[in-house]
Amino acid sequence: MRIAFIAALGLAISVQAQEIYITTTGYTTRPQCTKSIASPSYHFKSFSYSLEETIRYATSMPSPTTTKTYAPAYKDAVKHLKTTVSTSTWGNWLPGQTVINATDKNNPYGQAAWSSLWLNAGLQNYTTTGLFSTTVSPTPVPTSELVLPPRDYFGPTDCYNFPNDFIFGVAGSAAQIEGAVALEGRSPSLLEKLAAANSPKDYVTDENYFYYKQDIARLAAMGVEYYSFSIPWTRILPFVLSGTPVNKQAIDHYNDLINTVLDAGMQPVVTMLHFDSPLVFVASDNIARHPHIGYANAGYQNETFVDAFVNYGKILLANFADRVPIWVTFNEPLFYAFNFQGVDNVIHAHAQVYRFYHEELKATGKMSLKLNDNFGVPKNPKNNSDVEAANRFNEMQLAFFANPIFLGK
Ligand SMILES: *[C@@H]1O[C@H](CO)[C@@H](O)[C@H](O)[C@H]1NC(C)=O
Ligand SMILES: *[C@@H]1O[C@H](CO)[C@@H](O)[C@H](O)[C@H]1NC(C)=O
Ligand SMILES: *[C@@H]1O[C@H](CO)[C@@H](O)[C@H](O)[C@H]1NC(C)=O
Ligand SMILES: *[C@@H]1O[C@H](CO)[C@@H](O)[C@H](O)[C@H]1NC(C)=O
Repeated sequence: MRIAFIAALGLAISVQAQEIYITTTGYTTRPQCTKSIASPSYHFKSFSYSLEETIRYATSMPSPTTTKTYAPAYKDAVKHLKTTVSTSTWGNWLPGQTVINATDKNNPYGQAAWSSLWLNAGLQNYTTTGLFSTTVSPTPVPTSELVLPPRDYFGPTDCYNFPNDFIFGVAGSAAQIEGAVALEGRSPSLLEKLAAANSPKDYVTDENYFYYKQDIARLAAMGVEYYSFSIPWTRILPFVLSGTPVNKQAIDHYNDLINTVLDAGMQPVVTMLHFDSPLVFVASDNIARHPHIGYANAGYQNETFVDAFVNYGKILLANFADRVPIWVTFNEPLFYAFNFQGVDNVIHAHAQVYRFYHEELKATGKMSLKLNDNFGVPKNPKNNSDVEAANRFNEMQLAFFANPIFLGK
């Protein structure tokens, strides 16, 4: 199976390596290049395309009458967790809040303890000034407003087609679209610290946490079949580690989100960790420190990370795997793995969750991880040391995850 997604609104931090920087003064001169440059002639032609697709979905595609299931439902799946799962709810952490006014100071997972996670995170310019504070009902999309994307007019003129099993869909990630970072029991993640520096609005973003029904309705109206989104670990388990209570509001939220996707005739693809690693794993580290690998220190190398991730993954699967056909454990772990221990921990955490999914739950969907590879090519393909350098670069980008996971090497 091949999966391709277009990441919506990529965070600047994740795209650095894919950018080509051109200085404002243009390219430097290259006096050694003496061959005259070919001068193509350009002409203007107005752009047009004809629609070959005649079916439009002003409303969602009809939802299937029976929903396929891929794993046991929660009441049976939870028996495989082998730990007691308790649930709780917490409040909202609001701007300017400094007093932890809760009577449960002795409860390590109570309201006071939760509030102090935010107080200690010390968010700068924290704001909640979005448009919404509760779930928004979707409005229908008028057919007249539907504009189909143009044909692939930049495409090659040969006869390439997507293979039949190619899955084409639309993707977002929680940190990029949800907002509501400190509401309804979510606890701090690394991204509130990293991404906030120049853009306080990262706390609000597109308000998909309240606006998901509308967003899903619009995606379905465009004829999208697969919607990929991520769930923040810190919403499901505000205290992150194994044995801590599950946030009931978060479970209800993602149950409804998944059901809304299915009701709209689309398939959900769920990512467990898309950069928004719990802050607790790095709280005592300098998060701005330049990493050895990738771009940021998300605490994957923390000695408590594997157990905690596996517990979190199992809780997600117990709650949602019955209705979700495709799971992604990690999004682009290279960017946040920091060092070799982080890479090793990602591989072990992925492997344990994968085995739980297939061997314990006997689930029948697919599970993988999304690896990024900024593919290295040799400067001179006829020079052996250049070829070796490119191979080594690719080993350090891709192979150290892919070899053990896909090849058992
Ligand atoms: C703090 O909690 C107490 C008891 O629940 C309540 O009476 C009081 O109004 C609260 N104070 C603030 C500032 O919210
Ligand atoms: C916070 O807001 C002030 C005033 O708008 C601004 O100067 C500062 O850069 C902001 N800091 C952050 C971390 O966003
Ligand atoms: C590792 O994670 C634990 C939480 O499980 C935290 O208490 C500890 O400070 C973290 N270590 C570092 C170096 O950040
Ligand atoms: C191959 O490339 C390396 C590094 O760019 C260079 O030092 C070396 O001279 C090149 N070898 C040949 C045979 O061109």
